Amino acid sequence: MAKKEVKFTAEEANIKHIGFIMDGNGRWAKKRAMPREYGHKFGADVFEKIMDYCCHMGIAAQTFYVFSTENWKRPKKEVDSIMRLLDNYLDDCERRLKKNDVRFIFLGDKSVFPESMRKKMIDIENNSASYKYIVNLALNYGGRDEIVMAVNKLAAEGKTNLTEQDISSALYTNESPELDLIVRTGGDMRISNFLLWQSAYAELYFTDVLWPDFKPSDVDAAVENYMNRKRRFGGV
Ligand code: FPP
Repeated sequence: MAKKEVKFTAEEANIKHIGFIMDGNGRWAKKRAMPREYGHKFGADVFEKIMDYCCHMGIAAQTFYVFSTENWKRPKKEVDSIMRLLDNYLDDCERRLKKNDVRFIFLGDKSVFPESMRKKMIDIENNSASYKYIVNLALNYGGRDEIVMAVNKLAAEGKTNLTEQDISSALYTNESPELDLIVRTGGDMRISNFLLWQSAYAELYFTDVLWPDFKPSDVDAAVENYMNRKRRFGGV
C-alpha cells in the first residue's frame, strides 16, 4: 500500500500510538446465526488488515486488546477457540512481521499460557525486536493487573519514593510512545480495564461499528475526529 492510499499519515494526524478495543465479534456472529467463534475468526482477519493499514499510515505503536484477564470467565468452548486462533496465528506471524517491519510485544502475564505458546510468544518478541513499528498484543492483560505488576517489580528492586516515570518504565508498554487515541468498536462506552495508566490523557473514540465490520475507512473517521480535538493535557 503506497502512502497515497492512506487518507492521513501518522505525521499529519500527529498520532504516535493508537489503541483498539476490538468489541462486537459475538454480536456480529449472532446476527448471522453463527456461533460466537465465527465472529472471532473474522475478527482476527480484521485485526490483521487494520494493523497493516496503521503501519502504512506510519503509526509508531498500536495496541490491540485481544484477551483480557477477565475474558477467562467466558465459556470454555469460546476461550478454547480464541486460544486456538491465537496459537495458529503465532505459527504464521513471523513471516508477516518481517514483511511489514512489525515488532510484536505481548502485554500481559504469559505464565498462564501453555509452554509451547509461551515459547512462540517469546521467540516472536525476540526475532522481531529490530523491526520498526511496535504492535502490542494485550493477551491475558488487565490495566489494574499491569499497574500492580509494575509496583511489585519496583518494590522487589527495593525502590521507594516511586515517581510516575518509575511506574511508566515498569509497565508492559515501556517501549511505546505516549498513548494518543483509543478506538472502541461495538457501541459500548467504557475502557474495560484497557491501558488504564497510559490512557490518562488519551482521546477516546467510540463507534457502533462491530469489530468484524471495522474497515480502514473507519480508522480514517476516528483519526479525522481525533484531529479536530483540542488536546490540552490539563493546561488551557
Ligand atoms: C470482544 O468481542 C472480542 C474478544 C474478547 C476477542 C478479540 C479477539 C479477536 C479479535 C481475535 C484476535 C485474534 C488474533 C489472532 C489477534 P465480544 O466477543 O465481547 O463481542 P460481543 O460484545 O458482541 O459479545
